Amino acid sequence: MGPLLRGIAVLRRLTEADGGTLSLSGLEKATGLARSTVDRVTATLARMGYVRLDGRDVALAPRLMELGNAYLAALRLPALLSHRADALADALDESVSLAVGDRDGIRFIHQATRRRAMSLSFRIGDLLPAERTAPGPLFAAEWTPDDWCHWRARRAADPADRAFPSVPPPEHTTPDADFEHRTERAAADGWALDDQLIEPGLVAVSVPVRDPGTGRVACVASVVSHTSRHTAEDLRTALLPRLRSAVAAMEDDLRAAPPPEPGPAPAGLATWTGASKQELGREFVESLARGLTVLTAFGEGRAALTLTEVAKATGLARATARRALITYEHAGLVTQAPDGTFTLTPRVLSLGFPPLSRLSLPQIAQPHLTALAARVNESASLAVLSDSREEVQYTARASTSRVMSAHITVGARLPARSTSLGRVLLADSEEVRTRGYALVDEELEAGLRSIAVPVRDRTGRAVAAVDVAMHAARRTTESCVTDILPELRATATHIEADLRTAGRFTRVPLT
Ligand code: PHB
Repeated sequence: MGPLLRGIAVLRRLTEADGGTLSLSGLEKATGLARSTVDRVTATLARMGYVRLDGRDVALAPRLMELGNAYLAALRLPALLSHRADALADALDESVSLAVGDRDGIRFIHQATRRRAMSLSFRIGDLLPAERTAPGPLFAAEWTPDDWCHWRARRAADPADRAFPSVPPPEHTTPDADFEHRTERAAADGWALDDQLIEPGLVAVSVPVRDPGTGRVACVASVVSHTSRHTAEDLRTALLPRLRSAVAAMEDDLRAAPPPEPGPAPAGLATWTGASKQELGREFVESLARGLTVLTAFGEGRAALTLTEVAKATGLARATARRALITYEHAGLVTQAPDGTFTLTPRVLSLGFPPLSRLSLPQIAQPHLTALAARVNESASLAVLSDSREEVQYTARASTSRVMSAHITVGARLPARSTSLGRVLLADSEEVRTRGYALVDEELEAGLRSIAVPVRDRTGRAVAAVDVAMHAARRTTESCVTDILPELRATATHIEADLRTAGRFTRVPLT
Protein backbone atom coordinates (compact mmCIF):
# COMPACT_ATOMS: atom_id res chain seq x y z
CA MET A 1 0.00 0.00 0.00
CA GLY A 2 1.40 3.41 -0.98
CA PRO A 3 1.41 6.52 1.21
CA LEU A 4 -1.69 7.97 -0.49
CA LEU A 5 -3.76 4.86 0.25
CA ARG A 6 -2.52 4.89 3.84
CA GLY A 7 -3.61 8.50 4.17
CA ILE A 8 -7.04 7.63 2.75
CA ALA A 9 -7.34 4.70 5.18
CA VAL A 10 -6.56 6.98 8.14
CA LEU A 11 -9.11 9.59 7.00
CA ARG A 12 -11.78 6.90 6.50
CA ARG A 13 -11.27 5.41 9.96
CA LEU A 14 -11.45 8.87 11.53
CA THR A 15 -14.65 9.59 9.59
CA GLU A 16 -16.27 6.45 11.00
CA ALA A 17 -15.04 7.11 14.54
CA ASP A 18 -17.20 8.74 17.18
CA GLY A 19 -16.83 12.51 16.90
CA GLY A 20 -14.29 12.16 14.08
CA THR A 21 -11.58 11.53 16.70
CA LEU A 22 -9.32 8.58 17.54
CA SER A 23 -6.22 8.18 19.64
CA LEU A 24 -2.99 7.41 17.79
CA SER A 25 -3.06 3.87 19.17
CA GLY A 26 -6.76 3.59 18.23
CA LEU A 27 -5.82 4.54 14.68
CA GLU A 28 -3.02 1.99 14.72
CA LYS A 29 -5.56 -0.70 15.62
CA ALA A 30 -8.27 0.50 13.24
CA THR A 31 -5.96 0.74 10.21
CA GLY A 32 -3.55 -2.11 10.95
CA LEU A 33 -0.69 0.26 10.12
CA ALA A 34 2.56 0.41 12.09
CA ARG A 35 2.71 3.09 14.74
CA SER A 36 5.56 4.90 12.98
CA THR A 37 3.45 5.02 9.80
CA VAL A 38 0.43 6.36 11.69
CA ASP A 39 2.68 9.04 13.20
CA ARG A 40 4.01 10.13 9.80
CA VAL A 41 0.62 10.07 8.08
CA THR A 42 -1.07 12.07 10.84
CA ALA A 43 1.82 14.57 11.02
CA THR A 44 1.43 15.14 7.28
CA LEU A 45 -2.35 15.50 7.48
CA ALA A 46 -1.92 17.90 10.41
CA ARG A 47 0.55 20.02 8.45
CA MET A 48 -2.02 20.24 5.63
CA GLY A 49 -4.66 21.35 8.12
CA TYR A 50 -6.75 18.22 7.47
CA VAL A 51 -6.52 16.85 11.03
CA ARG A 52 -5.63 18.28 14.40
CA LEU A 53 -3.23 16.62 16.81
CA ASP A 54 -4.25 17.11 20.38
CA GLY A 55 -1.92 15.22 22.67
CA ARG A 56 -2.47 11.56 21.78
CA ASP A 57 -5.72 12.27 19.91
CA VAL A 58 -6.21 12.86 16.21
CA ALA A 59 -9.33 14.80 15.15
CA LEU A 60 -10.70 15.64 11.70
CA ALA A 61 -10.35 19.37 10.95
CA PRO A 62 -12.81 21.55 8.95
CA ARG A 63 -10.24 22.28 6.23
CA LEU A 64 -10.59 18.64 5.13
CA MET A 65 -14.05 19.56 3.84
CA GLU A 66 -12.33 21.16 0.85
CA LEU A 67 -12.07 17.65 -0.64
CA GLY A 68 -15.82 16.99 -0.37
CA ASN A 69 -16.47 20.57 -1.48
CA ALA A 70 -14.47 19.89 -4.66
CA TYR A 71 -16.81 16.97 -5.43
CA LEU A 72 -20.00 18.89 -4.56
CA ALA A 73 -18.89 21.96 -6.55
CA ALA A 74 -18.01 19.83 -9.58
CA LEU A 75 -21.38 18.03 -9.31
CA ARG A 76 -23.21 21.39 -9.21
CA LEU A 77 -26.47 19.85 -8.05
CA PRO A 78 -26.31 21.24 -4.49
CA ALA A 79 -25.64 24.76 -5.76
CA LEU A 80 -28.53 24.55 -8.24
CA LEU A 81 -31.12 22.59 -6.25
CA SER A 82 -30.60 22.91 -2.52
CA HIS A 83 -32.72 26.08 -2.22
CA ARG A 84 -35.71 24.10 -3.59
CA ALA A 85 -35.10 21.30 -1.07
CA ASP A 86 -34.86 23.85 1.75
CA ALA A 87 -38.07 25.59 0.66
CA LEU A 88 -39.94 22.27 0.51
CA ALA A 89 -38.69 21.33 3.99
CA ASP A 90 -39.96 24.69 5.30
CA ALA A 91 -43.32 24.31 3.56
CA LEU A 92 -43.90 20.76 4.82
CA ASP A 93 -42.06 21.07 8.13
CA GLU A 94 -40.41 17.74 7.33
CA SER A 95 -36.83 16.82 6.43
CA VAL A 96 -35.97 16.85 2.74
CA SER A 97 -32.82 15.32 1.28
CA LEU A 98 -31.02 14.99 -2.03
CA ALA A 99 -29.04 11.82 -2.70
CA VAL A 100 -26.93 10.43 -5.52
CA GLY A 101 -26.33 6.80 -6.38
CA ASP A 102 -23.01 5.43 -5.18
CA ARG A 103 -22.61 2.00 -6.72
CA ASP A 104 -25.05 -0.17 -4.72
CA GLY A 105 -25.66 2.50 -2.11
CA ILE A 106 -27.09 6.00 -1.94
CA ARG A 107 -25.13 8.95 -0.64
CA PHE A 108 -26.59 12.24 0.58
CA ILE A 109 -25.44 15.46 -1.09
CA HIS A 110 -27.85 17.77 0.72
CA GLN A 111 -29.93 17.64 3.90
CA ALA A 112 -32.61 20.11 4.93
CA THR A 113 -33.10 18.59 8.36
CA ARG A 114 -35.82 19.36 10.89
CA ARG A 115 -34.35 18.67 14.28
CA ARG A 116 -36.46 15.89 15.73
CA ALA A 117 -35.60 13.60 18.57
CA MET A 118 -37.55 10.67 17.23
CA SER A 119 -35.35 9.16 14.54
CA LEU A 120 -31.95 9.00 12.98
CA SER A 121 -31.09 11.85 10.75
CA PHE A 122 -28.47 11.40 8.11
CA ARG A 123 -25.66 13.76 7.21
CA ILE A 124 -24.24 14.96 3.91
CA GLY A 125 -21.87 12.21 2.79
CA ASP A 126 -23.55 9.36 4.69
CA LEU A 127 -23.85 6.16 2.67
CA LEU A 128 -26.93 3.91 2.98
CA PRO A 129 -27.56 0.48 1.42
CA ALA A 130 -29.81 1.10 -1.61
CA GLU A 131 -32.29 -1.67 -0.70
CA ARG A 132 -33.15 -0.09 2.65
CA THR A 133 -34.04 3.34 1.27
CA ALA A 134 -36.65 5.06 -0.86
CA PRO A 135 -34.15 6.50 -3.39
CA GLY A 136 -32.45 3.09 -3.84
CA PRO A 137 -35.01 1.48 -6.22
CA LEU A 138 -35.08 4.65 -8.34
CA PHE A 139 -31.32 4.40 -8.88
CA ALA A 140 -31.45 0.61 -9.26
CA ALA A 141 -33.87 1.07 -12.17
CA GLU A 142 -30.76 2.19 -14.11
CA TRP A 143 -28.34 -0.44 -12.80
CA THR A 144 -26.42 -2.63 -15.23
CA PRO A 145 -26.27 -6.43 -14.79
CA ASP A 146 -22.80 -5.86 -13.36
CA ASP A 147 -24.23 -3.48 -10.74
CA TRP A 148 -26.83 -6.10 -9.74
CA CYS A 149 -24.09 -8.73 -9.39
CA HIS A 150 -22.09 -6.41 -7.21
CA TRP A 151 -25.18 -5.74 -5.08
CA ARG A 152 -25.97 -9.46 -4.62
CA ALA A 153 -22.38 -10.23 -3.69
CA ARG A 154 -22.33 -7.43 -1.13
CA ARG A 155 -25.62 -8.59 0.44
CA ALA A 156 -24.31 -12.14 0.73
CA ALA A 157 -20.97 -11.02 2.17
CA ASP A 158 -22.34 -8.40 4.58
CA PRO A 159 -25.85 -9.28 5.76
CA ALA A 160 -25.49 -7.03 8.84
CA ASP A 161 -24.66 -3.93 6.73
CA ARG A 162 -21.35 -3.40 8.48
CA ALA A 163 -20.10 -1.51 5.42
CA PHE A 164 -22.69 1.16 6.28
CA PRO A 165 -21.68 2.49 9.69
CA SER A 166 -24.40 5.17 9.72
CA VAL A 167 -27.31 2.69 9.67
CA PRO A 168 -28.34 0.18 12.36
CA PRO A 169 -28.12 -3.50 11.38
CA PRO A 170 -31.33 -4.78 9.74
CA GLU A 171 -33.92 -6.20 12.15
CA HIS A 172 -34.61 -9.09 9.79
CA THR A 173 -33.22 -10.16 6.47
CA THR A 174 -35.26 -9.61 3.33
CA PRO A 175 -35.07 -11.70 0.17
CA ASP A 176 -33.23 -10.13 -2.78
CA ALA A 177 -36.46 -10.45 -4.75
CA ASP A 178 -38.11 -7.78 -2.57
CA PHE A 179 -35.75 -5.12 -3.80
CA GLU A 180 -35.96 -6.34 -7.38
CA HIS A 181 -39.73 -6.02 -7.12
CA ARG A 182 -39.53 -2.54 -5.55
CA THR A 183 -37.19 -1.49 -8.37
CA GLU A 184 -39.66 -2.62 -11.05
CA ARG A 185 -42.46 -0.73 -9.32
CA ALA A 186 -40.31 2.39 -8.93
CA ALA A 187 -39.39 2.32 -12.62
CA ALA A 188 -43.07 2.13 -13.53
CA ASP A 189 -44.39 4.62 -10.95
CA GLY A 190 -41.64 7.25 -10.92
CA TRP A 191 -41.58 7.32 -7.11
CA ALA A 192 -40.68 4.97 -4.26
CA LEU A 193 -41.33 4.54 -0.55
CA ASP A 194 -39.26 3.54 2.45
CA ASP A 195 -41.64 2.10 5.03
CA GLN A 196 -39.35 1.72 8.05
CA LEU A 197 -36.62 -0.16 6.22
CA ILE A 198 -33.86 1.61 8.14
CA GLU A 199 -35.41 1.70 11.56
CA PRO A 200 -38.87 1.48 13.10
CA GLY A 201 -40.73 4.78 12.65
CA LEU A 202 -38.60 6.22 9.84
CA VAL A 203 -40.57 6.66 6.59
CA ALA A 204 -39.63 8.37 3.33
CA VAL A 205 -40.98 9.02 -0.16
CA SER A 206 -38.69 9.76 -3.10
CA VAL A 207 -38.85 11.10 -6.66
CA PRO A 208 -35.99 11.16 -9.19
CA VAL A 209 -34.63 14.44 -10.51
CA ARG A 210 -33.67 13.79 -14.13
CA ASP A 211 -30.82 15.39 -16.03
CA PRO A 212 -32.47 17.37 -18.83
CA GLY A 213 -29.68 16.48 -21.25
CA THR A 214 -29.48 12.73 -20.79
CA GLY A 215 -32.82 11.92 -19.16
CA ARG A 216 -30.97 9.87 -16.56
CA VAL A 217 -31.44 10.19 -12.80
CA ALA A 218 -29.17 13.02 -11.64
CA CYS A 219 -30.19 12.75 -7.98
CA VAL A 220 -33.22 11.72 -5.93
CA ALA A 221 -35.24 14.07 -3.72
CA SER A 222 -36.88 12.60 -0.60
CA VAL A 223 -39.28 13.74 2.07
CA VAL A 224 -38.49 11.96 5.33
CA SER A 225 -40.90 11.69 8.23
CA HIS A 226 -41.86 9.61 11.22
CA THR A 227 -44.85 7.31 11.65
CA SER A 228 -45.98 9.48 14.59
CA ARG A 229 -46.72 12.20 12.01
CA HIS A 230 -47.26 10.34 8.75
CA THR A 231 -47.68 6.73 7.77
CA ALA A 232 -45.92 5.66 4.58
CA GLU A 233 -49.35 5.64 2.91
CA ASP A 234 -49.91 9.27 4.05
CA LEU A 235 -46.61 10.27 2.54
CA ARG A 236 -47.77 8.91 -0.79
CA THR A 237 -51.17 10.54 -0.76
CA ALA A 238 -50.50 13.81 1.05
CA LEU A 239 -46.86 14.68 0.39
CA LEU A 240 -45.94 12.99 -2.91
CA PRO A 241 -47.81 15.55 -5.05
CA ARG A 242 -45.91 18.41 -3.38
CA LEU A 243 -42.61 16.58 -3.73
CA ARG A 244 -43.38 16.03 -7.40
CA SER A 245 -44.03 19.70 -8.08
CA ALA A 246 -40.83 20.65 -6.26
CA VAL A 247 -38.93 18.14 -8.40
CA ALA A 248 -40.52 19.55 -11.57
CA ALA A 249 -39.23 22.99 -10.51
CA MET A 250 -35.78 21.47 -9.86
CA GLU A 251 -35.75 20.00 -13.36
CA ASP A 252 -36.71 23.41 -14.77
CA ASP A 253 -33.80 24.92 -12.84
CA LEU A 254 -31.42 22.37 -14.33
CA ARG A 255 -32.74 23.14 -17.82
CA ALA A 256 -32.35 26.88 -17.29
CA ALA A 257 -28.92 26.71 -15.64
CA PRO A 258 -26.18 28.45 -17.62
CA PRO A 259 -23.12 26.35 -18.39
CA PRO A 260 -20.91 26.09 -15.33
CA GLU A 261 -18.47 28.94 -14.76
CA PRO A 262 -15.06 27.35 -14.80
CA GLY A 263 -14.22 28.15 -11.20
CA PRO A 264 -10.81 29.41 -10.26
CA ALA A 265 -8.20 26.70 -10.45
CA PRO A 266 -6.81 26.14 -6.97
CA ALA A 267 -4.44 28.94 -6.12
CA GLY A 268 -1.32 27.13 -7.23
CA LEU A 269 -0.07 24.54 -4.85
CA ALA A 270 -1.26 24.18 -1.30
CA THR A 271 0.53 26.17 1.41
CA TRP A 272 2.89 23.38 2.43
CA THR A 273 4.54 23.19 -0.99
CA GLY A 274 6.35 26.47 -0.48
CA ALA A 275 7.99 25.18 2.67
CA SER A 276 11.43 23.62 2.68
CA LYS A 277 11.98 19.99 3.61
CA GLN A 278 13.55 21.21 6.82
CA GLU A 279 10.49 23.28 7.78
CA LEU A 280 8.15 20.40 6.97
CA GLY A 281 10.06 18.05 9.18
CA ARG A 282 11.21 14.48 8.68
CA GLU A 283 7.76 13.11 9.41
CA PHE A 284 6.18 14.89 6.42
CA VAL A 285 5.24 12.45 3.64
CA GLU A 286 5.37 14.52 0.50
CA SER A 287 3.81 11.93 -1.78
CA LEU A 288 0.73 11.81 0.45
CA ALA A 289 0.41 15.61 0.45
CA ARG A 290 0.88 15.78 -3.33
CA GLY A 291 -1.64 13.02 -3.88
CA LEU A 292 -4.34 14.67 -1.76
CA THR A 293 -3.81 17.97 -3.57
CA VAL A 294 -4.96 16.28 -6.79
CA LEU A 295 -8.56 16.16 -5.50
CA THR A 296 -8.65 19.94 -5.11
CA ALA A 297 -8.02 20.43 -8.83
CA PHE A 298 -11.71 19.61 -9.39
CA GLY A 299 -14.56 22.02 -8.78
CA GLU A 300 -17.31 24.03 -10.43
CA GLY A 301 -16.81 24.00 -14.20
CA ARG A 302 -13.91 21.62 -13.58
CA ALA A 303 -15.87 18.38 -13.25
CA ALA A 304 -14.03 16.38 -15.92
CA LEU A 305 -10.31 17.04 -16.20
CA THR A 306 -7.57 15.56 -18.34
CA LEU A 307 -4.30 14.49 -16.79
CA THR A 308 -2.68 17.60 -18.27
CA GLU A 309 -5.31 19.83 -16.66
CA VAL A 310 -4.86 18.16 -13.27
CA ALA A 311 -1.09 18.57 -13.48
CA LYS A 312 -1.43 22.21 -14.50
CA ALA A 313 -3.98 23.06 -11.79
CA THR A 314 -1.92 21.50 -9.01
CA GLY A 315 1.56 22.31 -10.25
CA LEU A 316 2.46 18.63 -9.96
CA ALA A 317 4.58 16.72 -12.46
CA ARG A 318 2.43 14.69 -14.86
CA ALA A 319 3.88 11.42 -13.61
CA THR A 320 3.00 12.37 -10.01
CA ALA A 321 -0.53 13.43 -10.95
CA ARG A 322 -1.02 10.25 -12.99
CA ARG A 323 0.10 8.03 -10.13
CA ALA A 324 -2.32 9.73 -7.76
CA LEU A 325 -5.23 9.51 -10.23
CA ILE A 326 -4.63 5.80 -10.77
CA THR A 327 -4.51 5.23 -7.01
CA TYR A 328 -7.79 7.13 -6.61
CA GLU A 329 -9.38 5.10 -9.39
CA HIS A 330 -8.44 1.91 -7.53
CA ALA A 331 -9.88 3.34 -4.32
CA GLY A 332 -13.14 4.26 -6.09
CA LEU A 333 -12.70 7.99 -5.54
CA VAL A 334 -12.12 8.90 -9.20
CA THR A 335 -13.43 7.45 -12.46
CA GLN A 336 -11.97 7.77 -15.91
CA ALA A 337 -14.36 8.32 -18.83
CA PRO A 338 -13.81 6.74 -22.27
CA ASP A 339 -12.54 10.14 -23.48
CA GLY A 340 -9.74 9.93 -20.91
CA THR A 341 -10.99 12.64 -18.55
CA PHE A 342 -11.16 12.05 -14.80
CA THR A 343 -14.14 12.79 -12.52
CA LEU A 344 -14.56 12.65 -8.75
CA THR A 345 -17.03 10.09 -7.38
CA PRO A 346 -19.46 10.61 -4.46
CA ARG A 347 -17.11 8.48 -2.36
CA VAL A 348 -14.86 11.54 -1.95
CA LEU A 349 -17.45 12.53 0.69
CA SER A 350 -16.32 9.54 2.78
CA LEU A 351 -13.13 11.50 3.53
CA GLY A 352 -14.38 13.32 6.62
CA PHE A 353 -17.50 15.05 5.33
CA PRO A 354 -20.31 13.52 7.44
CA PRO A 355 -18.99 14.38 10.91
CA LEU A 356 -17.50 17.70 9.83
CA SER A 357 -20.76 18.77 8.14
CA ARG A 358 -22.40 18.88 11.58
CA LEU A 359 -19.92 21.23 13.27
CA SER A 360 -21.26 24.42 14.81
CA LEU A 361 -19.36 27.71 14.86
CA PRO A 362 -18.44 27.28 18.56
CA GLN A 363 -17.01 23.83 17.78
CA ILE A 364 -15.07 25.23 14.82
CA ALA A 365 -13.75 28.08 16.97
CA GLN A 366 -12.80 26.09 20.08
CA PRO A 367 -9.33 24.85 19.05
CA HIS A 368 -8.46 28.32 17.76
CA LEU A 369 -9.55 29.91 21.05
CA THR A 370 -7.54 27.34 23.01
CA ALA A 371 -4.44 28.13 20.94
CA LEU A 372 -4.99 31.87 21.35
CA ALA A 373 -5.42 31.61 25.13
CA ALA A 374 -2.22 29.59 25.34
CA ARG A 375 -0.29 32.10 23.21
CA VAL A 376 -1.32 35.24 25.10
CA ASN A 377 -1.83 33.54 28.45
CA GLU A 378 -5.22 35.21 28.91
CA SER A 379 -8.76 33.88 28.47
CA ALA A 380 -10.43 34.07 25.07
CA SER A 381 -14.12 33.85 24.17
CA LEU A 382 -16.49 33.63 21.25
CA ALA A 383 -19.90 35.28 21.48
CA VAL A 384 -22.95 36.12 19.38
CA LEU A 385 -25.55 38.85 19.70
CA SER A 386 -28.90 37.84 21.25
CA ASP A 387 -32.02 38.16 19.09
CA SER A 388 -32.94 41.39 20.86
CA ARG A 389 -29.42 42.71 20.15
CA GLU A 390 -29.33 43.83 23.78
CA GLU A 391 -27.00 41.13 25.02
CA VAL A 392 -24.02 39.08 23.99
CA GLN A 393 -24.14 35.38 24.62
CA TYR A 394 -20.89 33.47 25.16
CA THR A 395 -20.77 30.39 22.92
CA ALA A 396 -17.20 29.12 23.39
CA ARG A 397 -14.38 29.89 25.74
CA ALA A 398 -10.80 29.00 26.58
CA SER A 399 -9.44 30.11 29.91
CA THR A 400 -5.95 30.12 31.24
CA SER A 401 -4.88 28.77 34.55
CA ARG A 402 -4.46 32.28 35.94
CA VAL A 403 -6.35 32.69 39.16
CA MET A 404 -7.56 36.14 38.24
CA SER A 405 -9.09 35.34 34.85
CA ALA A 406 -12.56 36.72 34.22
CA HIS A 407 -15.26 34.33 35.44
CA ILE A 408 -17.48 33.84 32.48
CA THR A 409 -18.88 30.53 31.29
CA VAL A 410 -20.38 29.37 28.02
CA GLY A 411 -24.05 30.38 27.90
CA ALA A 412 -23.51 33.50 30.04
CA ARG A 413 -25.13 36.70 28.81
CA LEU A 414 -23.89 40.23 29.35
CA PRO A 415 -25.19 43.62 28.23
CA ALA A 416 -23.92 44.07 24.66
CA ARG A 417 -23.06 47.74 24.99
CA SER A 418 -20.73 47.29 27.93
CA THR A 419 -18.61 44.53 26.39
CA SER A 420 -16.02 44.73 23.62
CA LEU A 421 -17.70 41.69 22.00
CA GLY A 422 -21.05 43.48 21.90
CA ARG A 423 -19.62 46.71 20.56
CA VAL A 424 -17.89 44.93 17.72
CA LEU A 425 -21.11 43.10 16.83
CA LEU A 426 -23.26 46.21 17.03
CA ALA A 427 -20.54 48.21 15.24
CA ASP A 428 -22.54 51.25 16.22
CA SER A 429 -19.64 53.61 16.63
CA GLU A 430 -17.79 54.87 13.54
CA GLU A 431 -14.59 54.30 15.44
CA VAL A 432 -15.23 50.60 16.04
CA ARG A 433 -16.28 50.13 12.44
CA THR A 434 -13.22 51.72 10.88
CA ARG A 435 -10.68 50.34 13.34
CA GLY A 436 -12.20 46.86 13.20
CA TYR A 437 -11.88 46.23 16.92
CA ALA A 438 -13.36 47.38 20.22
CA LEU A 439 -11.56 47.84 23.50
CA VAL A 440 -13.52 48.14 26.71
CA ASP A 441 -11.82 49.27 29.82
CA GLU A 442 -13.18 48.64 33.28
CA GLU A 443 -16.78 49.49 32.34
CA LEU A 444 -18.37 46.17 33.06
CA GLU A 445 -16.35 45.52 36.14
CA ALA A 446 -13.51 47.35 37.83
CA GLY A 447 -10.22 45.82 36.81
CA LEU A 448 -11.53 44.06 33.70
CA ARG A 449 -10.24 44.99 30.28
CA SER A 450 -11.13 43.32 27.00
CA ILE A 451 -10.48 43.66 23.31
CA ALA A 452 -12.60 42.08 20.56
CA VAL A 453 -12.70 41.66 16.78
CA PRO A 454 -15.52 40.40 14.52
CA VAL A 455 -15.75 36.96 12.89
CA ARG A 456 -17.27 37.32 9.44
CA ASP A 457 -19.03 34.73 7.27
CA ARG A 458 -18.45 34.34 3.52
CA THR A 459 -20.79 37.25 2.79
CA GLY A 460 -18.87 39.59 5.09
CA ARG A 461 -21.51 39.68 7.82
CA ALA A 462 -20.16 39.75 11.39
CA VAL A 463 -21.78 36.59 12.77
CA ALA A 464 -19.77 36.41 15.99
CA ALA A 465 -16.92 38.09 17.80
CA VAL A 466 -13.81 36.90 19.62
CA ASP A 467 -12.23 38.66 22.56
CA VAL A 468 -9.37 38.41 24.96
CA ALA A 469 -10.25 39.50 28.49
CA MET A 470 -7.71 40.26 31.18
CA HIS A 471 -7.09 42.00 34.43
CA ALA A 472 -6.34 45.67 33.80
CA ALA A 473 -3.33 45.58 36.10
CA ARG A 474 -1.60 43.06 33.88
CA ARG A 475 -1.48 44.97 30.63
CA THR A 476 -1.81 48.55 29.46
CA THR A 477 -4.37 49.42 26.82
CA GLU A 478 -1.44 50.12 24.47
CA SER A 479 -0.12 46.62 25.02
CA CYS A 480 -3.61 45.27 24.25
CA VAL A 481 -3.47 46.94 20.86
CA THR A 482 0.15 46.17 20.00
CA ASP A 483 0.47 42.67 21.48
CA ILE A 484 -2.99 41.14 21.75
CA LEU A 485 -4.78 42.62 18.74
CA PRO A 486 -2.56 40.95 16.09
CA GLU A 487 -3.05 37.56 17.78
CA LEU A 488 -6.78 38.16 18.01
CA ARG A 489 -6.96 39.11 14.32
CA ALA A 490 -4.99 36.02 13.32
CA THR A 491 -7.42 33.89 15.34
CA ALA A 492 -10.46 35.49 13.70
CA THR A 493 -8.88 34.88 10.28
CA HIS A 494 -8.36 31.16 11.07
CA ILE A 495 -11.95 30.80 12.31
CA GLU A 496 -13.25 32.62 9.22
CA ALA A 497 -11.27 30.36 6.89
CA ASP A 498 -12.69 27.23 8.57
CA LEU A 499 -16.19 28.74 8.52
CA ARG A 500 -15.91 29.45 4.79
CA THR A 501 -14.81 25.90 4.04
CA ALA A 502 -17.41 24.33 6.34
CA GLY A 503 -20.23 26.64 5.23
CA ARG A 504 -19.83 26.23 1.49
CA PHE A 505 -22.41 23.44 1.21
CA THR A 506 -23.78 23.18 4.74
CA ARG A 507 -25.42 25.60 7.10
CA VAL A 508 -23.14 26.03 10.10
CA PRO A 509 -25.15 26.70 13.29
CA LEU A 510 -23.88 29.88 14.95
CA THR A 511 -24.59 28.67 18.50
C1 PHB B 1 -33.06 10.79 4.62
O1 PHB B 1 -32.96 11.77 3.89
O2 PHB B 1 -32.67 10.83 5.80
C2 PHB B 1 -33.63 9.53 4.08
C3 PHB B 1 -34.05 9.51 2.77
C4 PHB B 1 -34.60 8.33 2.25
C5 PHB B 1 -34.71 7.22 3.06
C6 PHB B 1 -34.27 7.26 4.36
C7 PHB B 1 -33.74 8.42 4.89
O3 PHB B 1 -35.24 6.10 2.57
